[in-house]
Amino acid sequence: MCGIVGAIGTQNAESILLDGLKRLEYRGYDSAGMATLDAHQTHIRKAVGKLGALASLLKERPCPGSVGIAHTRWASHGRPNEINAHPHQFGPITIVHNGIIENHAALKKDLLAQGHQFESDTDTEIVAHLIAQFKKEYPTDFPKAVSKALELIHGAYALAILDQDSPDTLIGVRQACPLVVGLGNGENFLASDFPAVLSHTRRFMVLEDGDMAILHKDRVQVQNIHGEIQTRTPITLDWSPATAEKGGFKHFMLKEIFEQPQAVIDTLRGRFSLGDLELVLEGLQTDLLKNIQQITIVACGTSYHAGLIAKRLIEELAQIPVEVDLASEFRYRNPLIRTSHLVIGISQSGETADTLAALVLAKSKNAQLVALCNVVDSAIARLCNTSAGTFYTRAGPEISVASTKALLTQIIALYLLALLLAQQRGLLHAQTLEKHLDSLYQLPLLLEAALKQEPEIRQTAKRLAQSENILLMGRGLLHVAALEGALKIKELSYIHAEGYPAGEMKHGPIALIDEKMPVLVLAIQGMNYEKTLSNLEEIKSRGAQVFVVCNETDHELRQAYPNALLIPTCSPYLVPALAVLPLQLLAYHLADLRGLDVDQPRNLAKSVTIE
Ligand code: M6R
Repeated sequence: MCGIVGAIGTQNAESILLDGLKRLEYRGYDSAGMATLDAHQTHIRKAVGKLGALASLLKERPCPGSVGIAHTRWASHGRPNEINAHPHQFGPITIVHNGIIENHAALKKDLLAQGHQFESDTDTEIVAHLIAQFKKEYPTDFPKAVSKALELIHGAYALAILDQDSPDTLIGVRQACPLVVGLGNGENFLASDFPAVLSHTRRFMVLEDGDMAILHKDRVQVQNIHGEIQTRTPITLDWSPATAEKGGFKHFMLKEIFEQPQAVIDTLRGRFSLGDLELVLEGLQTDLLKNIQQITIVACGTSYHAGLIAKRLIEELAQIPVEVDLASEFRYRNPLIRTSHLVIGISQSGETADTLAALVLAKSKNAQLVALCNVVDSAIARLCNTSAGTFYTRAGPEISVASTKALLTQIIALYLLALLLAQQRGLLHAQTLEKHLDSLYQLPLLLEAALKQEPEIRQTAKRLAQSENILLMGRGLLHVAALEGALKIKELSYIHAEGYPAGEMKHGPIALIDEKMPVLVLAIQGMNYEKTLSNLEEIKSRGAQVFVVCNETDHELRQAYPNALLIPTCSPYLVPALAVLPLQLLAYHLADLRGLDVDQPRNLAKSVTIE
């Protein structure tokens, strides 16, 4: 959940580390800290709150030296205060950590019995003590001291470690938490995620669980805790540093909403060969999907909503029964999974703890696994690569905590998967496939058209900005859009919002409706439209403030609701992809009008790598 950066080279490390932290702040942001080594001295600076506090401190008291580590924290052990902020030091060892040391209580007890004293409430400090302890046994072998300490700790962790006595060495360790090595020219880096050091290098080595990377300014060696050398082939990313910047928008979220047409193009690129009408879903062992009889989709949050949309697509097109489960429920309910089952994990980050655990459980029951991820080589992707494979959404880096372009690309990728499954089962004639693909290729243009309505959506947001509650209603796939709209409104504007199936209104929620309750109804022609119009009348007659999302060609509704949020006409399967767009913009503007931190809403983090 936290973000780690490390650097070793000849330049001053402070600016590299601070810049890296800025790009990682989305991973957690209750405190931040940095440590550098200079002339066998360790310099540590820490500050509570956002990164600006650390940056101000560094202006007063800079961190000298060309090797260092830094951290942005999202508390898991101990309150978010300066003492608990990383780095943690004991003796010559300084450390930053992402994850949880599960046996920290037992280790701490042993160390206390040996006379150790601890400053913080963190599990991390214990690791610094252990390494320093082993350094007494191996005074000239820093990697060995780290390995010996790692033999004792259990849990999920990524670590970056400095030793005051070895100023030419920086060590990174990965165990079930992300960590990559950036390979520079005369300098090397560690980072929780690529964008942290993209302005310095595009060449990376992705560490695997159990890896310990030993970085010097001119070389990197990867070994396991037994000292055995591991070969990790470097990859080159084509993301430019600017891709990870705000690109002129006020917030990353707005930038990412506007990137959706391009993201959809990227998701579709090269995945269909016109000549032989063949779907090319690289990364998947498609033969393993031919005999699948049942599908379960596991995911969390917005990715779960993508799963709900996929259920409809796969069941209708490929005629395979699909169950969609929240990963946090699935993993604890002893689900009925057979070998003829395909379990699909959907995750933008590819690191979500519940989704990963759900897939591990499915694997233990011999199901085939497929991952749908955005982050390349993430934990979920790697797990599924040992089964039926990973299909990447190619949304590019999503920095804002709110998931927007990730969802759009998930819908498109799942649509392609549904088409492939249908084709494998002989249920898709060439002409029908062409029609589906035509509508997919038109989607970016339709999204562009829908984005043009942003100024009108801000006006609607102004009317809703003081509301305490908002009810969103829709039927079928529009119910899923309502769920997603409500999630976005809640997490960004802190307004209580509920997405409800309009057909269920009379079974309870109608009791909430009066003149104080704003209700947003999604009414799209061809999608249970008449039934939804009846619901709309019932809501209106109870005096509620009614807001509508409808087709731009729906003149009747537009006349009745001149401020209606409009979406272009498209194939029913793509309606949710278009309908969530005005809701994303609405949630964005509600949060912005309420003066909130849009990109980093309170209590949330981008990747939820612990339960
Ligand atoms: O990285 P994942 O897709 O696995 O993340 C799942 C959820 O945590 C995520 O979608 C969350 O709900 C977003 N903040 C929603 O905007």
